[in-house]
Amino acid sequence: AVSYIRTLYAFTNETLAKYSYATSLQATLRYGILISLVQGLGLGFTYGLAICSCALQLWVGRFLVTHHRAHGGEIITALFAIILSGLGLNQAATNFYSFDQGRIAAYRLFEMISRSSSGSNEEGNMSPSLQGNIEFRNVYFSYLSRPEIPILSGFYLTVPAKKAVALVGRNGSGKSSIIPLMERFYDPTLGEVLLDGENIKNLKLEWLRSQIGLVTQEPALLSLSIKDNIAYGRDATLDQIEEAAKIAHAHTFISSLERGYETQVGRAGLALTEEQKIKLSIARAVLLNPTILLLDEVTGGLDFEAERTVQEALDLLMLGRSTIIIARRLSLIRNADYIAVMEEGQLVEMGTHDELLALDGLYAELLKCEEAAKLPRRTPVRNYKETSTFQIEKESSSIYSFQESSSPKFIKSPSLQRVPGGFRAHDGAFNSQESPKAHSPPPEKMQENGLPVDGGDKEPSIRRQDSFEMRLPELPKLDVQATQRPKSSGSDPESPVSPLLTSDPKSERSHSQTFSRPLSHSGDIPMKDKEAHRREAPSFWRLAQLSFAEWLYAVLGSIGAAIFGSFNPLLAYVIALIVTAYYRRQEPHHLQDEVDRWCLIIACMGIVTVVANFLQHFYFGIMGEKMTERVRRMMFSAMLRNEVGWFDEEENNADTLSMRLANDATFVRAAFSNRLSIFVQDSTAVLVALLIGMLLHWRLALVAFATLPVLTVSAIAQVCISFVIWFSLHY
Ligand SMILES: Nc1ncnc2c1ncn2[C@@H]1O[C@H](COP(=O)(O)OP(=O)(O)OP(=O)(O)O)[C@@H](O)[C@H]1O
Ligand SMILES: [Mg+2]
Repeated sequence: AVSYIRTLYAFTNETLAKYSYATSLQATLRYGILISLVQGLGLGFTYGLAICSCALQLWVGRFLVTHHRAHGGEIITALFAIILSGLGLNQAATNFYSFDQGRIAAYRLFEMISRSSSGSNEEGNMSPSLQGNIEFRNVYFSYLSRPEIPILSGFYLTVPAKKAVALVGRNGSGKSSIIPLMERFYDPTLGEVLLDGENIKNLKLEWLRSQIGLVTQEPALLSLSIKDNIAYGRDATLDQIEEAAKIAHAHTFISSLERGYETQVGRAGLALTEEQKIKLSIARAVLLNPTILLLDEVTGGLDFEAERTVQEALDLLMLGRSTIIIARRLSLIRNADYIAVMEEGQLVEMGTHDELLALDGLYAELLKCEEAAKLPRRTPVRNYKETSTFQIEKESSSIYSFQESSSPKFIKSPSLQRVPGGFRAHDGAFNSQESPKAHSPPPEKMQENGLPVDGGDKEPSIRRQDSFEMRLPELPKLDVQATQRPKSSGSDPESPVSPLLTSDPKSERSHSQTFSRPLSHSGDIPMKDKEAHRREAPSFWRLAQLSFAEWLYAVLGSIGAAIFGSFNPLLAYVIALIVTAYYRRQEPHHLQDEVDRWCLIIACMGIVTVVANFLQHFYFGIMGEKMTERVRRMMFSAMLRNEVGWFDEEENNADTLSMRLANDATFVRAAFSNRLSIFVQDSTAVLVALLIGMLLHWRLALVAFATLPVLTVSAIAQVCISFVIWFSLHY
């Protein structure tokens, strides 16, 4: 939800989002509690059994001593040897865990390495004089992630060299899936993709991809300068880059930027408009100079004005290249030589615009649908110049299709090849604002886009207005919102203002300042220095306040921890008593009774240990999980309390926020419930040990006590230093 915050706000769905987040947290909570239960029981039984086995050994030892098979020292040595070996085993076991982790990681690693090498074809063929005849022959394909859903099923397509074929069809008919097959990101399940008659599997992969230029609606810009983004890793002089940018109609806007071609773009740099991004990727393709061009809905998200200039750039780019144009809007494919219509992963029709209209099949139906969708919308104000330009454009293309209209379905005949200058002539007509009346309108014009056309001057303005509709007629006053809103929503431009944004943001946000450090400067005071963060590091007391709601769990857990903690010194004391008893050989009966009694006590301690450990881990576990859940919920709603602008700040992007949701709460838990448990356990251990020491021999105990402060100070210093380092690294 954090990633789609704008959508969320626009539909005022915060409550729902909070609710669904809370529900998903509940599942985590249950899971965490189960883990605590298992952990408590597991640890309890481990320690309990260890203590019981200790009791057993001492008891057996008593037999040996009374029967003069061994003396006390030997028994104790054996006991300690076993205890120490147990400790050693314990430490080794943690390493086994790391081994396992390493093996799992290595498995994934090796799998990845072997997978990436299997697909590539290092020493395949390269054809030096590539013509660019593309053929899909009976291709079957489904994505690995969903093998049961066929995307292409028996797909045929022929793209003659240097021709442009438009691929149209309904949503999800599999048009875009042609691209990964052509680029060999995937291989077809069945059938083959041929390039100049050669299966592309036999071609050198790198070379194949260098022959293909891909322009999509969402071009990938790297966080580099414009220059490097156009060059895209290739060696190119600035002249070449500028030349490419000019062809892509991008030179003008790049030159108008303050730093020109050196301007940083991408995530961290200047935010470009869709149009500018697309132009950059066109320039990139021009520079690559590929034989084959794949265009996927390039202008799909642009308005009329932008669409026109991008289309001009694309026309230039397409010159002399085999091109597959994927376009949902049929008005955009007027420059294609042939039109291929796809349905459910199959080619159903192919031919020129007019042939397909005459066929009255799916293409005609799609055209009708598109027209029907547009008709009810009318926007009056239009720029005259635009209308006339479109008119020329339209006519020249219709002339063009008229000339070729005699070709049959699935035409491959070379006689139909376009005159090399054909495109130029068309472009010329496009640019030189020639009077539309110069061409006598061909009869096909009547059917252009499936609608009868009569008053040629007015009609285009009605037809073409869909792109105008997409512009928001009146942008709401909230700039933050408006600038971030994608232009091409296609939905009715409702006001995107969420009630939260209109209500008093100050009071809304005040809550966030009470617990979450990063949220405390919500938007309005842009504090950049890290000092500010450090000052706001929450005190331990505030952490404690967070957990007050779970005090009952804390008390129960503490009881367990205290019992378990006190057992260590007690155990030591009892063992010492037994050892003394071993040496009192004079009175064997007395020895027997005493040792038996103490062994029984140790065994009982073992049993109590199980319970104590269970209490400690289970209840502190519940407390920690509940705390984590609550902190996450609070953080999430606090995040949603912020304005959209807050999410634009670099430190608040979706990834960071999600990571914070996942991690910070866990840190809080680690800081509190886990540590509290250990703290209680250890401090009771210290207290009981001191008590026993005092009771037995206060002088010695005092000596030990005197060293305690030194030890404490050094331990605290160590913790403080590592905390400071950790904190300055993370924030
Ligand atoms: N990477 C993928 N993994 C699994 N399924 C996918 C993947 N990409 C697309 N699909 C599925 O393949 C089907 C065809 O998608 P594709 O994008 O090729 O259709 P399309 O004709 O381009 O549609 P649109 O007009 O919406 O762009 C869809 O059902 C889609 O859900
Ligand atoms: Mg698509």
